[in-house]
Amino acid sequence: MRRAALALTLTLLGAALGQPLPAPAWGDSVYPQLGQAGLDVTHYDVTLRVARPGTRTLQGEVTLTVRAVKALPLLSLDYLGAAVTGVTWDGGAVPHERTPEKLLVRRPLAAGQTARVTVRFDGVTGEVPDPSLPGALGWQAVPGPGGGVNFAYSEPDGTRAFLPVNDHPADPATFTLRVTVPPGVTAAASGVQTGVQPVVGGRTFTFEQRQPIPPYALALHLGSLERVDQSAVVSGGKQVALRDYFPPGIPPAVRAPYARTGEILRVLGEWFGPYPFETYGSVVVTPPLPALETATLSTMPVTSSSVRVIVHEAAHQWFGNSVVLGDWADTWLNEGFATYAELVWAQSQGEDGQAMVQGWYARLQARGTRPLVARAADDLFDGSAYARGALALHAVRVTVGDAAFKSFLHIYVRQQAGQPTRTADLLRLVRAQLGQPAEAVLRRWIESPALPPLPGLQTP
Ligand code: ARG
Ligand code: ZN
Repeated sequence: MRRAALALTLTLLGAALGQPLPAPAWGDSVYPQLGQAGLDVTHYDVTLRVARPGTRTLQGEVTLTVRAVKALPLLSLDYLGAAVTGVTWDGGAVPHERTPEKLLVRRPLAAGQTARVTVRFDGVTGEVPDPSLPGALGWQAVPGPGGGVNFAYSEPDGTRAFLPVNDHPADPATFTLRVTVPPGVTAAASGVQTGVQPVVGGRTFTFEQRQPIPPYALALHLGSLERVDQSAVVSGGKQVALRDYFPPGIPPAVRAPYARTGEILRVLGEWFGPYPFETYGSVVVTPPLPALETATLSTMPVTSSSVRVIVHEAAHQWFGNSVVLGDWADTWLNEGFATYAELVWAQSQGEDGQAMVQGWYARLQARGTRPLVARAADDLFDGSAYARGALALHAVRVTVGDAAFKSFLHIYVRQQAGQPTRTADLLRLVRAQLGQPAEAVLRRWIESPALPPLPGLQTP
């Protein structure tokens, strides 16, 4: 009764502040407004028509297959995108409402019930500002001579700027994408390309992303792109098709490191186990953004086109895209493992890795550090998430030895695939698989306000 009264008061207060939250969000500690608690979107079927590449005009529809994990009084999706022109529920028209950040359909779902909800939209996409980036997250539009370019750039919460989604990594889903573009324009997206069809006004490209991925990791690109296929590679026992995409005029020196992708997946597969998806590659983009590990197709700025960054984004396919975050405060789980992969790669190339480990440590000594669970949005992609995260994992490796550490990584990836994962889950699994001393070492690296001593460089 008291709780209900409190909830009502908070709802009314929210409404008074112009941000009504009639459905409880997922409960993320950094982004408390994202997602809907108890909502499981299993599949997004996305149809997009882009008549003018390089602009933010977007027309299309998304059919979400939704399932209520518990009884829901309504459906509350994250959406800041183009004007909604209609919503249907299992095929019948339903009213909808928009708040600044949500699309609401006031229809209840019983626990276990599923529905197919289609949202049609047409207009100009929204924007989600991000403290660590020059521009906004969401649907990027780069005008250019000979046709513009568009691409999704969404980590952490930009997908909602152009698609209605349950925008939290704890609810990964599969995707079908159908993208219609004018003649001469190529579309690329997460998953396997299953078709290209000529249609009135251009071509429709179809993609299937058959393994669940978080909404922020959705890759979607269109422009005058050259597709380059490489021979398939075996990564952790799994066959992976390789393709990259390059815009016109990318010099050979920028393209060259992408030829190493197969070798990189082979090495990472040895350490992390089978590559989680069916295909991998990169799309090179020209804006000076940070590289982003979009699922099966990393988004790689010209300025990040190095083997080291290719290794890092490839590692995120295991850590972030397959093992998903349970809370944005735990980005170090993504960034620490992806940074650690850079060491694993360097060692596979004959380096001893000491310089890299010392470099991480020196960077933290110079710029300061924090306990690994983030408290604010500014922390998510700071030096601690990357360098201290990687050192925490190195400290465990040095404690237990290479063989035990490697087999632990395989177990972690296998057990946590598709599971919302938090720092406590890693600690629990380290204790169960590697023992209490290893857990204590890791815990110190996670929790200590000061920087723990540099772990010994020799592995036992
Ligand atoms: N996950 C990306 C990477 O390290 C970084 C994304 C940065 N995103 C941001 N909003 N600053 O590979
Ligand atoms: Zn990263």
